[in-house]
Amino acid sequence: MSILVTGGCGFIGGNFILDYLASGGEKVINLDLLTYAGNRSSLAHLPLGSYELIRGDIRDQTLLEKIFSIHQPEAIVHFAAESHVDRSILGPETFIETNVLGTLRLLEMAKNYWKKSEGDLKENFRYIQISTDEVYGSLGPDDPPFKETTPYSPNNPYSASKAAGDHLARAYFHTYGLPVITSNCSNNYGPYQFPEKLIPLMILNALGDKPLPIYGDGLQIRDWLFVSDHTRALRLILKKGTPGQTYNIGGNSEKTNLEVVKTICRLLDSKKPKEDGKSYAELITQVKDRPGHDRRYAIDASKIKKELGFEPKISFEEGLNKTIDWYLDNKTWVDGILTGEYRSWLDTQYGQS
Ligand code: NAD
Ligand code: TYD
Repeated sequence: MSILVTGGCGFIGGNFILDYLASGGEKVINLDLLTYAGNRSSLAHLPLGSYELIRGDIRDQTLLEKIFSIHQPEAIVHFAAESHVDRSILGPETFIETNVLGTLRLLEMAKNYWKKSEGDLKENFRYIQISTDEVYGSLGPDDPPFKETTPYSPNNPYSASKAAGDHLARAYFHTYGLPVITSNCSNNYGPYQFPEKLIPLMILNALGDKPLPIYGDGLQIRDWLFVSDHTRALRLILKKGTPGQTYNIGGNSEKTNLEVVKTICRLLDSKKPKEDGKSYAELITQVKDRPGHDRRYAIDASKIKKELGFEPKISFEEGLNKTIDWYLDNKTWVDGILTGEYRSWLDTQYGQS
């Protein structure tokens, strides 16, 4: 039996496919448009019998119908998305196209396929909607962390588009009975993350002796989760999660952005000391704040712990060590990224490349 993964050439989808196959999963069909954020080389070594990449758009109904009829997947794990807040501020439309319209098309095709299926396939089929804690909005310093029951309150075009996709997924469960499960996860970091996001951007800028741009006062808080903990949680949800439920996934690791960047600098100072003898921390530069910047995200992950027995295993310091080592050891992957589209993004966003 196979599962259909969307967006598997991206950061979390790619890590999920590697983890799923390494843990005994039989076969993955990966539908990915290969946008700027998709990288086929991350999975190129996987054997053909267990992995197949189909380059295409989740909005393409004809393609979706063909994939369902040929591969008869037993589950869909839907990662494909436009995923970067700063890009959504500069150009929200592609976020609506992929995260809302694309999710709707996928749900519709999944529903048609599931309705026609029979026996074990119909009984066990799952559609996993991969979402984010950002849909819950922003917390004050003393607010309790987000629970599954916290009302959605998205503040930027990215989180608004994810919220809309999640609402559609919820509606497909309630209206049509499609066995949808939604996960809302906190900020991930680890290998294969595109360096537009905070942690890989800071690692690669530091190694390139470039400024480390901190938005505003740098005291915004995120809850950081190492990506392999997230993919393990998703395997559990796929196997044991209850249709119609949502599960929050977090790292119990709230940090300010400044703390994160200072820790990266400290680790780099010992792993790869600068030739001029200075600390990487001297590259930290305060820049204009992100418009509508959410101040704090935090996750109450007690439901997934209680119901599915999930807890993160990798501490922030350990995860950051592994991440930095990965970026230092995978120069070919990194060099492949640091070209055309990425340089023009740095120019647009930071006025430098
Ligand atoms: P990413 O940007 O690294 O990867 C997205 C992938 O989707 C890319 O491979 C891209 O080519 C593909 N894609 C984009 N549009 C497509 C389309 N129309 N059709 C098919 N494929 C398309 O994203 P990520 O960081 O791996 O995030 C994956 C999912 O997890 C997203 O849904 C995101 O909202 C969610 N999430 C991310 C984080 C995080 O910290 N990165 C945290 C919680 C949830
Ligand atoms: P990011 O990795 O874009 O994730 P998200 O916005 O989805 O949480 O950003 C994480 C935090 O880091 C967020 O508070 C914005 C901040 N940030 C900076 O201060 N400088 C940067 O150059 C980037 C990319 C992010």
